[in-house]
Amino acid sequence: MGFVDTALDEAGLLNPHVREYVAHWAEVTGAARIEVVDAADDARLVAEALEAGELLPAGEGRYYSRSYHKDTARSEERTIVATNDERHKGEYNNWRPAAEMRELLTSKMRGQLAGKTMYVVPYLMAPQGSPLEKYAAGVELTDTRTVVLHMIRMARVGVSFINDLAEPDSFVRAVHVAGDLPNLGQGTPDDQRYFVTIADERTILHYGSSYGGNALLGKIAHGLRQAAFDGFASGEFLSEQFLLLGITDKQTGEKHHVVGGFPSASGKTNLAMTLAPEALGDRYHVEFYGDDIAWIWPGEDGRLYAFNPEGGVFGVAKDTNELTNPTALHSVDEGSGAIFTNVAYNPDTQEVWWEGKTPQPPADVTGWEDWKGDKIADRSESEKDAPWAHPNSRFTTALSQVPNVAPDYDDPAGVPVDAIIFGGRTRDREPLVRAIHDVAEGVYDGLTLGAEATFAAEGVEGQLRYDPMSMRPFMSYAEADYAAHWLKIVGAASKPPIFAHVNWFQRDAEDGHFLWPGYRENLRALLWLVQLRKGEVEGRPTPVGILPTREELDLTGLDLPEADLERILDIDVDRWRQEMGFRQAHLELFEGLPEEIWEAHRRVAAALDEA
Ligand code: GDP
Ligand code: PGA
Ligand code: MN
Ligand code: MN
Repeated sequence: MGFVDTALDEAGLLNPHVREYVAHWAEVTGAARIEVVDAADDARLVAEALEAGELLPAGEGRYYSRSYHKDTARSEERTIVATNDERHKGEYNNWRPAAEMRELLTSKMRGQLAGKTMYVVPYLMAPQGSPLEKYAAGVELTDTRTVVLHMIRMARVGVSFINDLAEPDSFVRAVHVAGDLPNLGQGTPDDQRYFVTIADERTILHYGSSYGGNALLGKIAHGLRQAAFDGFASGEFLSEQFLLLGITDKQTGEKHHVVGGFPSASGKTNLAMTLAPEALGDRYHVEFYGDDIAWIWPGEDGRLYAFNPEGGVFGVAKDTNELTNPTALHSVDEGSGAIFTNVAYNPDTQEVWWEGKTPQPPADVTGWEDWKGDKIADRSESEKDAPWAHPNSRFTTALSQVPNVAPDYDDPAGVPVDAIIFGGRTRDREPLVRAIHDVAEGVYDGLTLGAEATFAAEGVEGQLRYDPMSMRPFMSYAEADYAAHWLKIVGAASKPPIFAHVNWFQRDAEDGHFLWPGYRENLRALLWLVQLRKGEVEGRPTPVGILPTREELDLTGLDLPEADLERILDIDVDRWRQEMGFRQAHLELFEGLPEEIWEAHRRVAAALDEA
């Protein structure tokens, strides 16, 4: 394997464990060439991708790509967590034995890179120098250049991140092979795709996709699944599908940090990038730290700390516009280096469009192609109403491009967490916000998060399901242990954050309209929560938490129908009593759940019975 050594020597990749790993997979896959990637190679790789037609220009310094049309979302069904110990088997992690998966994936990947380049992408999922750095290094091997370009935007990429590891063998081995996408039987009984994390070997083997979390292995497979396992195994930290934001009160200079778990495509990116409501004047400023993943640990001062391990944003395009989220639009301005995937594209003008970007699609359809590449002008009558962009179409941009990114987003010390919120798309039952002071009850609330699944995962859109802490697709060990680990980490903080459940998505039962305007107005609920934590407001106690009174919630400049306001600031006790039965059945799935969680459940149920 002389050419492997030569390529690694030329790139100055010295870590002997990484070299051995690269050589092993070069041999298995039969790669013809090795190319070690550094973020500084971006311009050249972009030029090569444009030349090869893998990227198309979308204005100055912005790019467009299409994925294979059956490869447009994460596949939960095909995602597996394997270990060498069956006690890691949970309800949701599709647990399988490590040896079986290692063998199967090796056989799938064997010879797949004959004649092709294997890109070696060393990365770090953490700000450099963080206390959790030993869990953050990884090396993705991939056969797909657009995956490399996404990794450069979504993670910190370069040889320097893995050459000088304190423990040279402590890096995640992440192998990605796209496979022959048109011949993988996606969604059929003969589906060939396997997305496997062998958690106790810190090895990730993904076969059969080049899209999003299926292929950018630093992001979800390492940043969430592997890290959640590492956090549990070491007892040191939590890794969660959480946004992380700061709220600054410009009058007092005070700053509060909030983390929030909402299922995929349920508003994390929008909340972290939000502007303060215009009607509240210029008083508040939201700072962006992260929109999809937070690592959380107890600090020495008794508070919980968090950082965002990612280096970029992989945001939902749909409904992003100047009104809903101007910050997101500016993060993908010309010159940002952003990559759009599966939106509509006009090769003549190099414009992109997606549903909700403007109220109507471009009136002149000349040149426009839908996300599959079919001309809009050629659509038949029956195809007329099909969306131009795929609902899960995305933009990828680096954190440095986000206009409201916090000045200290890269600080390895992280930021103290004042509040943990959970939410999702819940069309009834869940009020705008309900706050919970008690830690066990807060953890219980996260474990019983129930929301509609979205288009971000294949084949489940609209299904109402429980999604503990929004981690259902990323769970890497048994849920009862997960609950105990949560109680341990948050319990280790003598000054724990306040918990809350939020819902921007309650709908009118008749016409289906959203009862709350959402987007930037959501900050009003968070401002109330901050005030509650400081003791400036008291709220109104209910069996399921403290709700804001109408006087406490700042509604300045909002003109909501009285009936809608009443609904979102109250609970339907009968509906909640019914919910408790569903929760009971859900929690019974998790054998060995800590008694504190059951106590919280019984406390809430009893309060509802008495209400
Ligand atoms: P994430 O995947 O959790 O980061 O969710 P995003 O912030 O990307 O939002 C997913 C989808 O929900 C997008 O189409 C947003 O436009 C939409 N969305 C986000 N926040 C709100 C909100 O407060 N109200 C409504 N109605 N839609 C929202
Ligand atoms: P999302 O992130 O939560 O913003 O949709 C991507 C994902 O979870 O697949
Ligand atoms: Mn996510
Ligand atoms: Mn997001």
